[in-house]
Amino acid sequence: MIGGGQLARMTHQAAIALGQTLRVLAVDPGDPAAQVSPDVVLGSHTDFDALARAATGATAMTFDHEHVPTELLDKLVAAGVNVAPPPQALVHAQDKLLMRQKLSALGAPVPRFADVQTPDDAAAFTAEAGGAAVLKTVRGGYDGRGVLMADSAEDARAIAERYLADGVPVMIEEKVAMRRELAALVARSPFGQGAAWPVVETVQRDGICVEVIAPAQDLPDGLGAAAQELGLRLADELGVVGVLAVELFETLDGGLLVNELAMRPHNSGHWTMDGSVTSQFEQHLRAVLDYPLGDTAARASVTVMANVLGAPHTPTMSVDERIHHLFGRLPEAKVHMYGKGERPGRKLGHVNVVGLPGQDPADVRERAVRAAHWLSHAEWTDGWEGH
Ligand SMILES: Nc1ncnc2c1ncn2[C@@H]1O[C@H](COP(=O)(O)OP(=O)(O)OP(=O)(O)O)[C@@H](O)[C@H]1O
Ligand SMILES: [Mg+2]
Repeated sequence: MIGGGQLARMTHQAAIALGQTLRVLAVDPGDPAAQVSPDVVLGSHTDFDALARAATGATAMTFDHEHVPTELLDKLVAAGVNVAPPPQALVHAQDKLLMRQKLSALGAPVPRFADVQTPDDAAAFTAEAGGAAVLKTVRGGYDGRGVLMADSAEDARAIAERYLADGVPVMIEEKVAMRRELAALVARSPFGQGAAWPVVETVQRDGICVEVIAPAQDLPDGLGAAAQELGLRLADELGVVGVLAVELFETLDGGLLVNELAMRPHNSGHWTMDGSVTSQFEQHLRAVLDYPLGDTAARASVTVMANVLGAPHTPTMSVDERIHHLFGRLPEAKVHMYGKGERPGRKLGHVNVVGLPGQDPADVRERAVRAAHWLSHAEWTDGWEGH
């Protein structure tokens, strides 16, 4: 797996159970996955020699992010490496403009969008869209980086000017009025088998996913099935191998628009580690290894995932002590920590709470959020001060 982040770390965790070892290409021996895999290749994902070293003797090459340059992936394929997902699929998770164009061609619903060649393009699009729009870097964005909201045509022009002056390709799209964000997570194997998990609600703050409610509650009739079918169809049409996350907007009139695609385990699927028969990490490996896929059924009527995001001020209480106290208060909380140093806003881990029969989804959610907040802030959101 290229990239030594938390996704590779949790994929390795799943690999162990399958009797496999996940080799990781990591930049630093302290990276989350490099800490746990016995087979670490150090190097950069933009260095062909490092990628080739990681591929030597491996069954397949897969990714924990989408930042490997497409030309290098093509070179690896030409050199006989089994790249999964293949570059012609992965490019649609790398390049947002190409993704929008391809999805439109496939008849998938997407927000209105345009390429931005000049600052005038951005201003004109925004004026036509009623004075608000979203500018996005075509490549390299994650966790909301590279996504900027423009509140006027002049604002859009200024944002585009800045990007283009730095030689960064940008695109623009309508600012979607939405009820909420959803995600359809599916997997596809080279054999052609597909599997879809229940559709989830994702809650973002400052462009970062902070909570996932699985399955999404109160979905309009047929919308969940429509999102799953869309995910499976896109996986098939694009030739995806592995997990595909389709980030969606549920519009105010109960329709769907595709926001973006990720072809790897995804934050919207962390709930599957405790809430589904098959976790997304195991499924990604099954797909990449062309095994039959696992059962994607939910184990409970609701599971909530809350991300542990670094607090503005790192608490003096150690993480170990925070975990100790959390377990004393919420024994049902399933904690997954990534082995990262604490920094404000950084994804340090996540907590899953699986609802028991009869439990109110709002209560399950409150406990997951309370646990995650405690882990990052050493403060209880309900004011509890017991020790
Ligand atoms: N067209 C839009 N209209 C309204 N909100 C949007 C739009 N595009 C993006 N957003 C908001 O910004 C968030 C981040 O956008 P996007 O997913 O494109 O960025 P990213 O940085 O590539 O993604 P990620 O955080 O998933 O890695 C979305 O989850 C959504 O909350
Ligand atoms: Mg996104």
